[in-house]
Amino acid sequence: MTVVPPDTRSARRAFPPGFAFGTATAAYQIEGAVAEDGRTPSIWDTFSHTPGTIDGGDTGDTAVDHYRRFREDVRMMADLGLTSYRFSLAWPRIQPTGRGPASERGLDFYRALTDELLAHGITPVATLYHWDLPQELETPTVGARAAGGGWPARETAYRFADYAALAAEALGDRVSTWITLNEPWCSAFLGYGSGVHAPGRTDPGDALRAAHHLNLGHGLAVGALRAALPASAKVSVSLNLHVVRPRSDGPEDLEAARRIDAVGNRVFTGPMLKGRYDEDLLKDTAHLVDWDTLVHDGDLVEISRPIDLLGLNYYNPTVVSAAPADTADRPREDGHGSSTFSPWPGADSVAFHRANDDLTAMGWPIDPTGLSEALLSMHREFGLPLIVSENGAAFQDTVAPDGTVHDPERTDYLRRHLHAVADAIDAGADVRGYYLWSLLDNFEWAYGYDKRFGIVRVDYDTLVRTPKSSARWYAEVIRRGGLD
Ligand code: FCB
Repeated sequence: MTVVPPDTRSARRAFPPGFAFGTATAAYQIEGAVAEDGRTPSIWDTFSHTPGTIDGGDTGDTAVDHYRRFREDVRMMADLGLTSYRFSLAWPRIQPTGRGPASERGLDFYRALTDELLAHGITPVATLYHWDLPQELETPTVGARAAGGGWPARETAYRFADYAALAAEALGDRVSTWITLNEPWCSAFLGYGSGVHAPGRTDPGDALRAAHHLNLGHGLAVGALRAALPASAKVSVSLNLHVVRPRSDGPEDLEAARRIDAVGNRVFTGPMLKGRYDEDLLKDTAHLVDWDTLVHDGDLVEISRPIDLLGLNYYNPTVVSAAPADTADRPREDGHGSSTFSPWPGADSVAFHRANDDLTAMGWPIDPTGLSEALLSMHREFGLPLIVSENGAAFQDTVAPDGTVHDPERTDYLRRHLHAVADAIDAGADVRGYYLWSLLDNFEWAYGYDKRFGIVRVDYDTLVRTPKSSARWYAEVIRRGGLD
């Protein structure tokens, strides 16, 4: 009998060599230090300080103080054996008014962070925009316009490209993978449609204008990044593509699914990856926005500049059906917060349902098959290398008297979803990495600090970090390079 050494025996499902095992975070959710070193307010500072917007009245003012504790956090990542780390750059730190030259003090923080990561053998992946638009670009205090800026304004796309160039010039020698936007669907449709995210505006036409200008900003930024970065750099975007499932095969439910696929997914993948907005999307939303004046000549060429990698953020599938007519005015609850206003322009006739009753603390159904499905369909449709740029779960963790946190539900969630990634790889998808959301408990946007996604617990009184049992489990997966 051959004796198999324990390490290889247990690694029954190995991931491909070089597969990145990472975690993901975002600047406003962890950094704090919102007025340090020249940083100015972003739309999230303004929004979180507006009464009634965030559960518990929480703000990101201190968050988990990563700005000061990043060395400790990087050491912890190294202890866990992470090979990569996805974080976001705070635009209002790097270019405080959203215009003009870069702030060296702001850049210094990211120079120090990336140096620290590299010194620990962790590959940095930088997201340029994880929702913290400089407030000055949303409501300019100088110039002709006093309001009405933000992503519905075309100018914001050009400002974003300038910022991308500044960031790449300063950090391009140490960051080789760049993500332009994180979940533009949330920026456009939660920020300007349902208003549950900053800046809290609620106009379906503005939401669609925002979507187009986010697309344009992405394309212009891809161009700016390519011009500033070495040819070997990889450029990507992170999309929260909705795995849309009709509740039945009936024509009305199929029609509901088509509408949500259009305004949830193809509004971004169409222009970015195919150079077009699909006719059905334009038709569904023609009463809300004049696409002919919105989309200028040349925009689609700009937006569809090739990218090297496609990032998927996945949490749960979206089950839809046709809605009875009399429910069109009800408050919208589709897993993205409740609002009287819909984040789905042109889809008033659609109702949302839970995929199952196995829920995380967010109320999001657990269904790992959606992750394999999304990876495979992206692989088949676009043929690009993929990363899972976010996946993870919030649960109500319990702290034992000795301070440890045992979180088997999170471990189970992660294990099942990593298997789903392996399933997609087995079926042919070229998946290069998995970025677990999230390293640390953090400011979960409109839900405040109550929802904990971290594999490391943060005590919000002392800011002490304690790896949960899920972190130990993930470290073991990384050590073995695969799953049991
Ligand atoms: C995603 C966001 C991320 C985090 C997770 C739970 O939509 O990109 O910042 O809030 O959800």
